[in-house]
Amino acid sequence: MQLYIDSAIIDEIRKAADTGLCDGCTTNPSLAAKAGRDYNDVLREICAIVKGHVSAEAVSSDAAGMVKEGQAFAKIAKNIVVKVPLTVEGLKACQTLSKSGIKVNVTLCFSANQALLAAKSGAFIVSPFVGRLDDIGQVGMDLIEDIRLIYDNYDFKTNILVASIRNPIHVLESALIGADIATMPYSVFEQLFKHSLTDAGIKKFLEDWEKVPKRK
Ligand code: E4P
Repeated sequence: MQLYIDSAIIDEIRKAADTGLCDGCTTNPSLAAKAGRDYNDVLREICAIVKGHVSAEAVSSDAAGMVKEGQAFAKIAKNIVVKVPLTVEGLKACQTLSKSGIKVNVTLCFSANQALLAAKSGAFIVSPFVGRLDDIGQVGMDLIEDIRLIYDNYDFKTNILVASIRNPIHVLESALIGADIATMPYSVFEQLFKHSLTDAGIKKFLEDWEKVPKRK
């Protein structure tokens, strides 16, 4: 499973990329607002840091506008993937952009039927939001299981990207289900590396190493 960083903060993205284990990056208008800089400038910088795919979100509400935005994003760098929302207009834009060779991430997916439509529209990635479903009392991970089953039934090649991740358990469950990608805030990415027993084990080994007789 690929691990993406869900951020537009360059410092965080650089730290994630430095581990050698960050496969891509997702951004959205809310994350861009947090970065507080021109979106295109931020995207250009992220694309130079992250080797894998970088998602850039269109904000138009009609297909023609999204296609125009998508074409402009695609000129920024080769690893750009254009994000469009899961609406009729978004899926129309997905079809047009995909046919022209531009990769599309269909975002704001909250049902398996929506994911089916995204795959049929030629999406490179579909982004189901697990955390926001959990927030309203539904089990977000059930949606990932359903989408995996449907895509495998029909051999759809669309990548399932688990979005709106809130904690490492979401990442673990994504991997157990067989999602293709999980995107997460830097705070969750950092947590994946940590275990208190690893820290305690290192401390003990170092203490014991001091007791090992060493030749002068
Ligand atoms: C990523 O592509 C999504 O936009 C993001 O994961 C949404 O996360 P949130 O629900 O925490 O805003």
